[in-house]
Amino acid sequence: MCGIVAYTGSSQAIPFLLDGLKTLEYRGYDSAGVEVLAQDGSLAGVKCVGRVSALVEKCQTRDLRSTCGIAHTRWATHGAPTDRNAHPHTSCDGRVAIVHNGIIENYRSLREELQARGHEFRSETDSEVIAHLVEEALRGPAAGDVVEALRRATRRLEGSWAVAAISADDPGTVACARKGSPLVLAATDGGAYAASDITALAGITSHVIQLDDGQLARMDPSGAVTVYDASGSEVAKPDTLDIDWDASAATLGGYDDFMAKEIAEQPAAIERLLRGRLSDGRINLDELDLTDDEIAAIDRIYVVACGTSLHVGLLARRFIEGWARIPVVAEAASEFIYEDVLVTDHTLCVIITQSGETADTLAAARKMHAAGAKVFAITNVLGSTAARESDGVLYIQAGPEVSVCSTKAYTAQMVAATILALLLAQKNGHMATGEVARRFRELARVPDLMRVVLDRSWQAKAAAREFVHAPSALFIGRGVNSATASEGALKLKEVSYLHAEAYAAGEMKHGPIALLEPSFPVVAIVPRDSVRDKTVSNIQEVIARGATCVAVATDGDEDVASLVERVMWIPDCPENIVPMVAILHLQVLARYVALARGCDVDKPRNLAKSVTVE
Ligand code: F6R
Repeated sequence: MCGIVAYTGSSQAIPFLLDGLKTLEYRGYDSAGVEVLAQDGSLAGVKCVGRVSALVEKCQTRDLRSTCGIAHTRWATHGAPTDRNAHPHTSCDGRVAIVHNGIIENYRSLREELQARGHEFRSETDSEVIAHLVEEALRGPAAGDVVEALRRATRRLEGSWAVAAISADDPGTVACARKGSPLVLAATDGGAYAASDITALAGITSHVIQLDDGQLARMDPSGAVTVYDASGSEVAKPDTLDIDWDASAATLGGYDDFMAKEIAEQPAAIERLLRGRLSDGRINLDELDLTDDEIAAIDRIYVVACGTSLHVGLLARRFIEGWARIPVVAEAASEFIYEDVLVTDHTLCVIITQSGETADTLAAARKMHAAGAKVFAITNVLGSTAARESDGVLYIQAGPEVSVCSTKAYTAQMVAATILALLLAQKNGHMATGEVARRFRELARVPDLMRVVLDRSWQAKAAAREFVHAPSALFIGRGVNSATASEGALKLKEVSYLHAEAYAAGEMKHGPIALLEPSFPVVAIVPRDSVRDKTVSNIQEVIARGATCVAVATDGDEDVASLVERVMWIPDCPENIVPMVAILHLQVLARYVALARGCDVDKPRNLAKSVTVE
């Protein structure tokens, strides 16, 4: 979603600001803009709908030499994606500019109040009120101090925000504030930096300052960063984080797109995650931070997540219930937050979130915390809000996932959920040590099994032809692979814009079968497992209606091959492992269909990498 970068120091601001926006492109956006403190002491800016590359071109037509500025990529919430609604927003006198991520819930009443005092609004956004509130504070009690003005402004706001502001009345200072939307800063000899996403600071520092909710920061041209609490008192020891950047992680490294790169990175990511997780037959998951007694007492687990991460949650439910015999509810966070949930002192909440910033998932975790449950996060992003607010965190260590469409985080999260299920089962005595070790050894085969599937990418590429001109597609699977079907359909629709629906195979005859007609494409996930024969019957039903069936099947299953149009083969592997392996074919399939339909696989329309609004 929206992205923020800001700089003040001794170098030119524009190169960092534009590069930073490019780094944040993956979050999803529809317009972009930049505002700097110009050499004559006034503010100067450029903004436009479309790609950052269009903004770069526009910037070249203006004199934007400056050592202090703010920039933004906007993902429209309030107001259409237009030049006027793009950030930065300025005050009436043009002496204040702000960029904002989040939602100002009381913006209507603030806007009316400000208009009644003579302020003129130029956009339809909720964010613009912040510029006018800062302007008023600068004219009054906060004269000449943009940080204090922003502090006073944020006292009037309800909702969530990460804000960066500059003012011609406080030249060289960048003021920042955070509540509910992430913001990280860097203090360096060459200047002070801020970004809504840690990746924009790669190559700048390995030591970032993280603002907590309610905090503000002053970025000084000397490179110093001072953090304040909501009352304006200096915070002596702000929260910091050391990052071990892998410089190649956020570059394409020879791949055509990040989706291709991230699909290929899956075996290595899983190897990293599994390292050191089993010793002497025991699962190591100290991050859970619960005593053996606390684990034994868990009476119920809520697994809460969104989108792809929710599909991991569906599997987590099966594994935890099946192995640890603890009742599990897996639910979409956006629904969960409005439910009357049953929580005792022994209830555990597991949140699964690649970005660690998904607003609904965070809201669900906060709700569970407030109700007295412990919250355990499975996430990818170091220092993310989910990680900071949870009682325990398991980092999946998949490296930056840049493509909006989640691939490597999905499989790594599945492996993480499996480790959690094994630990719970071992600790509460429902799985013997030998069995735990056996299951772990199965898990350790996943990277090599994935490599085999990746070597067979041509099979998914060939199957893609059946979908390119289809109006719609159906994905079916049973048992653990009903989640694989859901994830396969989600991948296809989000990157190729081809409508796709997933159904538990046995449910197909209760409705979706009416869709089938000659050449309608159906993907059946039919490995050789305990429900294979039932799924084969469903394939027969598909074929009897003249539909085109493409299967993901186990090597050597010639019966399936003789039934269907095409097969994407997976090596023989245990039932619980199949979802981690089979999905690679479906990721590759979605990518090839999208490329054939001329879609930008890394930045699908309307989507955001991290969904920071509820
Ligand atoms: C799909 C996708 C989304 C995310 C969802 C949750 O490819 O990426 O469905 O899975 O927005 O995001 P996180 O995991 O960051 O909470």
